[in-house]
Amino acid sequence: MKLNIAVLAGDGIGPEIIDQAIKVVDAICEKKGHTATYTKGLVGATAIDQTGNPYPDETHELCMNSDAVLFGAIGDPKFDNDPKAKVRPEQGLLAMRQKLGLYANIRPVSTFPSLLHKSPLRADLVEGADFVAIRELTGGIYFGRPQGRSENGETAYDTCVYTKSEIERICKLAFEFAGKRRKKLTVVDKANVLATSRLWRETVQAMAPAYPDIEVEYMFVDNAAMQIIQWPKRFDVMVTENMFGDILTDEASVITGSLGLLPSASVGIHTSVFEPIHGSYPQAAGKNIANPVATVLSAALMFEYAFNLKEEAELIRKAVDASLEQGVVTEDIDKTKPYKTSEVGDWLAAYIRKNA
Ligand code: IPM
Ligand code: MG
Repeated sequence: MKLNIAVLAGDGIGPEIIDQAIKVVDAICEKKGHTATYTKGLVGATAIDQTGNPYPDETHELCMNSDAVLFGAIGDPKFDNDPKAKVRPEQGLLAMRQKLGLYANIRPVSTFPSLLHKSPLRADLVEGADFVAIRELTGGIYFGRPQGRSENGETAYDTCVYTKSEIERICKLAFEFAGKRRKKLTVVDKANVLATSRLWRETVQAMAPAYPDIEVEYMFVDNAAMQIIQWPKRFDVMVTENMFGDILTDEASVITGSLGLLPSASVGIHTSVFEPIHGSYPQAAGKNIANPVATVLSAALMFEYAFNLKEEAELIRKAVDASLEQGVVTEDIDKTKPYKTSEVGDWLAAYIRKNA
């Protein structure tokens, strides 16, 4: 198969972790007879520096014309520390999600048997935890208008907006996911306070009878934040709005032992994007120390969702499991004798070449 992949490495550790994912994709392609072509595009702070725009039109064209987008990370401290900056790297990521119509962000959360001791939670709590968080990605307070400042600058406002059809399309996907798993769907909202959350609840209640085999529960977001820590095994599929999903998935990721392990897939109307859930980790940029596993596992999701190549995806996961079991890990996981980012990538590619 021909795999026409757009590569948006972005900022911070983006380029170095993307390089490792490409090594892994190349190894898979070599063994399985696929041909991958990679076309690089600018995004984020790097794109602002070079073009003034965090998601240039050429990058959008490239994404539209590709079969999948492999994405690194976005964000730069020079913007974080300047709340007055007119253009921000994160606007590039949001523009990409919106223009590609990527309304669903799928974040599988599962623990790795060999890393249970790395979790901040007790091993018996996390062992076997396995759920999928589905985050709405193109609505809510991230995109609602009006947004801004009053004339005197002393009042600021963000607006949270959801339409019934936006809720229906993401929840349909969530019901379908639950149908293929343990058939339990948790809808996370704040319906005791927010009008948008009440529309979510009402909409899901109307949809539920069409999925009689799925058990639906509704949970307030504060409670969900607690239950992820207290008893993560209770979740199967969780669906929630944009900002709740952003926060809960960072929380959920660390129960697996490191933020550097969790991949994601953003899917919707146009080309799907595959990216680690972590940020650009600027302190580590260029040091060859960042964990490439989340990006490598995002490439696995790309094989599965964008190309329907499940065996290839499984092979990547097997290689990652083997690397973790054998202690081929970066310093976030083992400080005593850590491997470099590039060494982990080389090891994974070699494992695939040997075992595929
Ligand atoms: C994420 C990130 C982004 C988000 C930032 C970088 C804008 O935190 O993908 O989770 O908030 O969506
Ligand atoms: Mg986030």
